[in-house]
Amino acid sequence: MAYSDFSRTIKIAPSILSADFANFGAEIRAIEAQGADWVHVDVMDGHFVPNLTFGPPAVKAFRPHVDTVMDVHLMIQPVDPYIDAFAEAGADILTAHVEAGPHIHRTLQAIRAAGMKAGVALNPGTPAEAVAHLLDLADLVCVMTVNPGFGGQKFIDMTGKVRALREMIGDRPVHIEIDGGVTPETAPLVAAAGADVLVAGSAVFKGGSVAESTAGRLKLRALPFAADPRGPAPAGKLRLETDARIIARPAGHWGSTAICLQHTAAQLEEHRFRACNQWRLQELAAAEIPAMR
Ligand code: DX5
Ligand code: ZN
Repeated sequence: MAYSDFSRTIKIAPSILSADFANFGAEIRAIEAQGADWVHVDVMDGHFVPNLTFGPPAVKAFRPHVDTVMDVHLMIQPVDPYIDAFAEAGADILTAHVEAGPHIHRTLQAIRAAGMKAGVALNPGTPAEAVAHLLDLADLVCVMTVNPGFGGQKFIDMTGKVRALREMIGDRPVHIEIDGGVTPETAPLVAAAGADVLVAGSAVFKGGSVAESTAGRLKLRALPFAADPRGPAPAGKLRLETDARIIARPAGHWGSTAICLQHTAAQLEEHRFRACNQWRLQELAAAEIPAMR
């Protein structure tokens, strides 16, 4: 699969910057199996940002493992000499920074001409207005909520910028992507401001690999529920419009369903506003547990 139709539903794009670098194929397959919508690939050059990651040959090697959308974020300067190489490597979306050179307009044209969706990224210090004349050339605006270069940094609140962009974009089919410090706590803030793509590196991979541990899986699966624009489940009710991915969980995944059953409805209700627990309520609903209906 590759990028298909535009939609503003929340999409989670785990960044493989925090994955096990010796096991990219397995890590990509694991996050997709757990419901990742896109795979975010951070390319750094040690010049535009003070860190080095990988170039087109590595990205090409990732491609056969990506069944969803390969979302390539270039933190490099210059960009234009490498556009064709990333197209050949199989990027679906190629994002360049507005700060990476004087000719971002031409860069976005070249990305589209090479057959990819074009993204433009804004560092935290760059105002929304920097893309005002680029919105008809872009398919995605990436709002950095950390200074680019490293995973695991603290979220910088850019909700004002996101709201301004959402207004500027209007009806155009342009995604707003948030990159940096996304967690179940920060995801609802940016989703409410108008973002629809949430990149998450350390929130997905750190403290338990998605491939190996329940903890890793839970973290990834908490994000879309945390960012759900419908907000917390209404008091006294479980949200029964469950997500197919949850219903289709691997048998025995919630090995502690029995433990959950020992929680009283009141105890679960107490946690209702903790967004990362919402999926648990939904999973219980999906399991049609009579006591919880
Ligand atoms: C930062 C990268 C991000 C990063 C996000 O320069 O562009 O994609 O991996 O990582 P977390 O989610 O850990 O902030
Ligand atoms: Zn990124």
